[in-house]
Amino acid sequence: PQTTPLTGKNVIVTAGGTRERIDPVRFITNDSSGKMGYAIAEEMAQRGADVTLISAPTKLAPPAGVAMVDVLTTEDLADAVTSAFKQADILVMAAAVADFKPISSADQKIKKSADNDEMTIKLTKTADILKRVAQMKRPGQLTVGFAAETQNLLDNAQKKLISKQLDLLIANDVSKPGVGFNGDTNQVTILQPDQAPIKTTLADKHVIAKQVVDQISQRVQKEG
Ligand code: PMT
Repeated sequence: PQTTPLTGKNVIVTAGGTRERIDPVRFITNDSSGKMGYAIAEEMAQRGADVTLISAPTKLAPPAGVAMVDVLTTEDLADAVTSAFKQADILVMAAAVADFKPISSADQKIKKSADNDEMTIKLTKTADILKRVAQMKRPGQLTVGFAAETQNLLDNAQKKLISKQLDLLIANDVSKPGVGFNGDTNQVTILQPDQAPIKTTLADKHVIAKQVVDQISQRVQKEG
């Protein structure tokens, strides 16, 4: 196969929605199907990268030529990412990470009873994985985040680019039809600290993955 700027690079991609347990039969999660992250992992592998895909539960088959690490909770994902990041050249966080989890998970199935018409589940903040990674980041390591927004897309995305010290941020307006969670298509704006935003058209997630990986590849080439 042809050599590319990504050949032999150690790349970590995350995908899917993390799960936070309420009790043995119930959990909190989100609509992520994993399709966006899996498409990026596949594209990276096709360009010769050495890819580890850290995946929360999905219904997808593992992409060819990619090493899989399966996780459930945000804490599992944080542990897997921070441990793999030490050896990584590039991290792409496409996973939809729970921002909050139940303060505790019940050992037994929670029962309804005649006297409780309402119940409250108390939540606590989870670790921000990309912020943790920012503190470990060495020169030459590239970090790529996503921003799933339903309003003020570019403003909110710009803030995440800076606060999480990212090299690229892929912003998707998930309130638009065909964009973001679950479906086969996406439309994104790629932000970089030193470049004008690049807006893609609405296209299959594999096409979007190519465009995202093109930008990552160009940065690797520039910085290498
Ligand atoms: O999986 P699909 O169905 O294909 O859908 C794709 C997608 C919508 C999930 C994907 O395109 C996407 O936007 N992924 C990121 C979803 C998300 O968690 O966005 P956020 O704006 O809440 O988080 C911003 C960034 O910080 C993300 O890179 C996220 O992975 C990361 N994060 C978030 C919370 C947390 N505790 N730690 C993190 O590192």
